[in-house]
Amino acid sequence: MHKRNSLFIATRNKGKLKDFKSLLPKYHIRSLLDTDIPEIEETGTNFQENSLIKAKTISNLLNTTVIADDSGLVCEGLDGEPGVYSARYAGTNSDEDNNKLLLKKIKDKNRDAEFVACICLYFPSGDYYFFLGKVKGEIIDTPKGNNGFGYDPIFYVKEFDKTFGELTLKEKNTISHRKKAIQKLIESSLL
Ligand code: IMP
Repeated sequence: MHKRNSLFIATRNKGKLKDFKSLLPKYHIRSLLDTDIPEIEETGTNFQENSLIKAKTISNLLNTTVIADDSGLVCEGLDGEPGVYSARYAGTNSDEDNNKLLLKKIKDKNRDAEFVACICLYFPSGDYYFFLGKVKGEIIDTPKGNNGFGYDPIFYVKEFDKTFGELTLKEKNTISHRKKAIQKLIESSLL
């Protein structure tokens, strides 16, 4: 039996889960880590398509309402890279390798960047809704801070004069792409 305010998030990413738990404190969050469902292939070409693939697949399997987030870093000087390939940019599943590759590629290029999160809310009825959140920043050369995950240590934001990796979870969640998308989801009153 699930708690009435239980929510299923279609991810295994512990960093994302931490964000979601802190942003949705009223809900009991379940995730793919609580199941033996195998990895879902992200075959979409944009954040929307991938969030829908994940949410729909899991909702159909579990017959429950599912939230999936597809997110990533979009760099101006790299024509949008790593984009939907953010998690697997270096091909090793390592955040450190991804950051190193990005820093190598972005050397001498425009460093403006944004994190984008597309959340798909999928109901067992087949109805679904998208919520988009973005935050602008700049890629810095030397990683800073041990908080967060992924590209956080090289993503600098003016508002705090710090990288996401230097922000506390609470600080990051005042301005993050995920926070903005979740805010829209909450305001939709669909949950
Ligand atoms: P997804 O699981 O396909 O959505 O991959 C998301 C990837 O984008 C993560 O593995 C990170 O590399 C990157 N990413 C998304 N959101 C964040 C964030 O809040 N901080 C740092 N990296 C992020």
